[in-house]
Amino acid sequence: MAKENTTEQTWTPATMGRMRSQLLDWYERNRRDLPWRRSRNPYAIWVSEIMLQQTRVAVVIERYLAFIARFPTLISLALAPEQEVLALWSGLGYYRRARMLHKAAQFVSSNLGGNLPATAAELRALPGIGSYTAAAIASIAHGERVAVVDGNVERVICRLVGWPATGRTGAAAQRRNIEMLANQLIDPRRPGDFNQAMMELGATLCLPRNPQCLVCPLRGECKTQGEHKTVPRPRMQSREVGYALVVRPEAAVRDTETDKRQVLLEQRSASQTVMPGLWELPSLQNPAVPPQDLRMTVRHAIMQVNYYVRIRAVPVEAVDELTVAGGERRWVPLGKAADMALTGLARKVLTRAHLLPPAQSSMAEVTEEDTE
Ligand code: ADE
Repeated sequence: MAKENTTEQTWTPATMGRMRSQLLDWYERNRRDLPWRRSRNPYAIWVSEIMLQQTRVAVVIERYLAFIARFPTLISLALAPEQEVLALWSGLGYYRRARMLHKAAQFVSSNLGGNLPATAAELRALPGIGSYTAAAIASIAHGERVAVVDGNVERVICRLVGWPATGRTGAAAQRRNIEMLANQLIDPRRPGDFNQAMMELGATLCLPRNPQCLVCPLRGECKTQGEHKTVPRPRMQSREVGYALVVRPEAAVRDTETDKRQVLLEQRSASQTVMPGLWELPSLQNPAVPPQDLRMTVRHAIMQVNYYVRIRAVPVEAVDELTVAGGERRWVPLGKAADMALTGLARKVLTRAHLLPPAQSSMAEVTEEDTE
């Protein structure tokens, strides 16, 4: 019988040595070549780790490269207007992460001379940097022996020792025990690689529903070998919503340089809990759209809700009677819209309507894991 959740779980030094070398050998042979892994720059690692929280690697790669190209240093990020930071975050979702990153960069720039602290303890003291991010920066950029424990690492540890899965709201005591074990196991000589190897193992082999135990480098030391229940996913809810697509017809002439057509956008108010300050299409009072006016339907997931979205082509004169009175509205030239802080859904719709260039489209693909 696997041991219950208890702090008694330990590995002998010999077992830990074997696990470290098996895991690191596997990582060397199988690590994905990701842009942030080519850098030891603490700022770049910070940006990548914030983006990687709750968003899939495939989506992050392109956004990370664009973000670092525009804000190559912490100071350049600190000096940028928030709307520009949000615009570069567009499609990654969870915009609060971008605001916190921006605020923390401003704090470091104003109070610490632009120098990000090097230890996990000091990093944790900064606004907007939690223990996960602090451990990732300190271990990967500075070689500090401190374990990164994300959802993937939790699952790997629980399976190794036979503890039940924690789920999203796992007990604090169990989380502390997992962190303790991860800090025992971490390789003191290569803590950054070890942490990334644990995350990589959880992301690519030790999968929640379909673990690839036969090719796992730690299978010899694993108590469960895949016989481990994970917490079922919360059921997705469904909701129907509609938005108005209003393009000024009189300006529907393509310019060789920039597109002069204008689209009507609305800014979400600053007091909204979800995506405050972002720009979206005006929302319809009634999501039931007559077939002749239906421009497209889109599915879009935000947190645990699947939105079934109808986009209605609305003439300029009818917009006020068909839409909900919302925040500030603005006619935006299409050539400028791509650089605005659009919601992921607005960007997806404008791209699919061929009103934004297709280069923006890959980040507009949204799945359950990759949500606002
Ligand atoms: N997930 C989040 N950060 C990661 C990293 N540095 N390596 C692998 N997976 C990750």
